Amino acid sequence: AQDKRESLYVLSSWAGKFFKEQLWNTEVGQSIGLSYFKERGYREEIIKKFDLGYSPDQWTVLSDAAVAAGFHQDYLKEIGLSIERDDGRVYDRFRGRVIFPIHNLTGRIIGFGGRTLKTEKSVPKYVNSPESEIYHKSDVLYGLNFAKKAIMDNDTCYLVEGYADVISMHQAGVEHVVSSSGTSLTTGQIRLISRFTKNVVILYDGDAAGIKASLRGTDMLLEEGLNVKVLLFPDGNDPDSYVQNFGSSAFKEYIDKHQEDFIFYKTNILLKDTGGDPIKRAEVIREVVQSIALIPDEIKVSVFIQQCSRLLEIEERVLLTELNKMRLQKA
Ligand code: CTP
Ligand code: MN
Ligand code: MN
Ligand code: MN
Ligand code: MN
Repeated sequence: AQDKRESLYVLSSWAGKFFKEQLWNTEVGQSIGLSYFKERGYREEIIKKFDLGYSPDQWTVLSDAAVAAGFHQDYLKEIGLSIERDDGRVYDRFRGRVIFPIHNLTGRIIGFGGRTLKTEKSVPKYVNSPESEIYHKSDVLYGLNFAKKAIMDNDTCYLVEGYADVISMHQAGVEHVVSSSGTSLTTGQIRLISRFTKNVVILYDGDAAGIKASLRGTDMLLEEGLNVKVLLFPDGNDPDSYVQNFGSSAFKEYIDKHQEDFIFYKTNILLKDTGGDPIKRAEVIREVVQSIALIPDEIKVSVFIQQCSRLLEIEERVLLTELNKMRLQKA
């Protein structure tokens, strides 16, 4: 079994090299893939650092090359580089896409994300490797291998939605950043972060989905005892587009200025929609207390109770009573 895992790693690494070879050393790769990355504002060093690649728009070019290089067809299917049709014919998963390899903590390639170059809404923007023996999505954070030292040095981890956000932030000189690749955070991923820091800043996309995700994914972070801040980008921007539109120093200034503690962020966002409605206000108060109740550190809890009592214009005593009631119900 150990041999098999090792073979899967070797195959992934080979595929990573294949995609890079296609990007840098073929005519289509250069004219389509490399120019795509350059148009996005990626410089050559960053394209190399993240092992970015290109997969040609052909049905079996990768599978054929892999088999010719001596790899088993079964292993290709197992890590999802190829897909078997009902009639037994096999084709490549990533076709005509630029490739973002996904590395584990030690820097080995364990999976891939492939971005389409098409703009049709009917084509999925990203295609990703499936779960496999070497790729457990719920235990992986994209970019962590490149970020871990910077996370420790800064004692902070920025959490973003996408691959491109991680890469553009690195190019902007902000290297303590990881991505959950568009899915909600898992406990495995949170434990992974907390090995390096207890401070997380969520930098989600400034769209409806991003706002929703910023309110949804955070309970687990609080429960694990992490300090959580949040920041949203304006006008539908994400970290990547903000860096590319406004430049590195404007980006850094923006993230320094706008991060806000999650509890206050949540309080203010929810309060905004209540108007004068007392029932809605009561609901907001309950929601906020629910989040505070998750925090394991009692000193932090009492600080938040104090400050939220002011924001919510309600006595501390009431908040505390509600908080204790919630904790009893949970226990
Ligand atoms: N994602 C995915 N499949 C999709 C759409 C998104 O797996 N069909 C994941 C990718 O990891 C993506 C992340 O969710 O990076 C965030 O999605 P989104 O914000 O839509 O994409 P961006 O990362 O902003 O992609 P780009 O800048 O390349 O358009
Ligand atoms: Mn395993
Ligand atoms: Mn988005
Ligand atoms: Mn995005
Ligand atoms: Mn984007």
